[in-house]
Amino acid sequence: MSELNTSYMGIPLANPVVIAASTLSADLNTIKKAEDVGAGALVIRSIFEEQIRHEVGEMEDALSTGSEAYAEALSYLPMLEHAGAREHLMWVEKAREAVKMPLIGSVNAVSGGKWVDYAKQLADTGIDALELNTYAVEADMTRSSADVEHGLYQMFEAVSDAIDLPIAVKLSPFYSSISNVVAELESRGAKGVVLFNRFLQPDINVETEQIENSMNWSRREDARLPLRWTALLYGRVNLDIIGNTGIEEPEDIIKFILAGATAVQVAGSLYRKGIDHVAQLIAGLESWMVAKGYNDLSAFRGKVSQKDVEANLLNYERAQYVGFILSQKA
Ligand SMILES: Cc1cc2nc3c(=O)[nH]c(=O)nc-3n(C[C@H](O)[C@H](O)[C@H](O)COP(=O)(O)O)c2cc1C
Repeated sequence: MSELNTSYMGIPLANPVVIAASTLSADLNTIKKAEDVGAGALVIRSIFEEQIRHEVGEMEDALSTGSEAYAEALSYLPMLEHAGAREHLMWVEKAREAVKMPLIGSVNAVSGGKWVDYAKQLADTGIDALELNTYAVEADMTRSSADVEHGLYQMFEAVSDAIDLPIAVKLSPFYSSISNVVAELESRGAKGVVLFNRFLQPDINVETEQIENSMNWSRREDARLPLRWTALLYGRVNLDIIGNTGIEEPEDIIKFILAGATAVQVAGSLYRKGIDHVAQLIAGLESWMVAKGYNDLSAFRGKVSQKDVEANLLNYERAQYVGFILSQKA
């Protein structure tokens, strides 16, 4: 027997397999099943800033004053009419009553404002932690990288001043200095970073000559980007590093822990294989640990991080790239 328990931003988890924010949490039976099959914790799907602003009337105010951006937003987001922020709070409360496993709330925010009060109400539902889902496509040419990062820190501080729960930031992989952003967030009190948020990329249909928005599911290879950053950050920050994207098999979880992750989050593979797959992920992790003689996760966490192995120093940065490119034969 090996011990699988871990601490997630100070919250004790039975194991490191966390259900990522997604519509998997839109059904109470799935949430209960996730607990039954042993999930360490579950992140409830995000409430979006647009939903909150719509409900507090900000969107309508903006519309009546002729703001084109909001008029456009509403025409693209008709579901806002039916997806209220209050309903979401009630949903989180219901989920809280239904299960004992740790629950993490998630807010997708792109600016400051009244929604910070909403984050407070969300915190009062009995969730154990909050995740800030920072999904934003930064296309404004007048905003520098420093402006974008500053906006992120301001948003984090606004929420962290308002609530007492541990907060993780689910980061975009598109910052030019991820290490610096993580260090800045830590210095402001972030207790965890989720590496990374997965952006849905629109496609173009050549028949209709229109944008096509279809789901682009992750593949296992997509885990390599967060894996590298987990390994680069481990031991250099004290906050928890949570691996996310492309986790499909127990081996993928093991890699993240070897790189230094505290836990992992899984979504896509559970849509494909069913929520029961959580049990196989946990069982596979445990049998690997038993075979290797590891009593607990800390026995191998970070073993293949950049910090802990001299040879990895260059490998996680440029050497592997240069070496590999130069060694390829036509
Ligand atoms: C259908 C679906 C809904 C999602 N909803 C959210 C969400 O509400 N908030 C969020 O932060 N991420 C959301 N995600 C992203 C996942 O949490 C996760 O970061 C992403 O799918 C990568 O993990 P995976 O490779 O295991 O799928 C969603 C993903 C899917 C597939």
